[in-house]
Amino acid sequence: ANNRTYTMIKPDAVSAGNSGAIIKMIEEAGFRIVSMKMTQMTKEIAGKFYEVHKERPFYGELCDYMSSGPIIPMILEKDNAVEDFRKLIGATNPAEAAEGTIRKLFAKSIEANAIHGSDSDENAAIEGAFFFSAVDQY
Ligand code: CMP
Repeated sequence: ANNRTYTMIKPDAVSAGNSGAIIKMIEEAGFRIVSMKMTQMTKEIAGKFYEVHKERPFYGELCDYMSSGPIIPMILEKDNAVEDFRKLIGATNPAEAAEGTIRKLFAKSIEANAIHGSDSDENAAIEGAFFFSAVDQY
């Protein structure tokens, strides 16, 4: 559905104990949590998820990092979900993220940047389906 996006709280934010604060910000911004779980990717699974980045110089490191600890994948629902969620999380590089955004508050670096947000409706559907089966997407 066009009013949904996919997110995951990344290992740096989970291990720092910031999951609760981040989920609170997501809810207060008006997103409904459709699906949520705690899980951990193997390096191979992370490699599949980030396959679009496989030619990038940071791909190997990114897959190591994203499989280094637990993550919290979620499907979220709101009008204009993809765009509004990217505003809530801020720029990929926390040094460039606006005040009050999740990444400005919680990201450690451009790689360990606390949270993911899909960049299009099409990718939101693909990424959500990567982590959740149809029965979870009620
Ligand atoms: P995200 O946009 O969620 O998905 C791709 C990820 O790659 C991005 O978050 C960062 O975690 C990571 N990334 C993007 N650019 C860089 C970079 N220049 N160096 C290291 N990691 C990066």
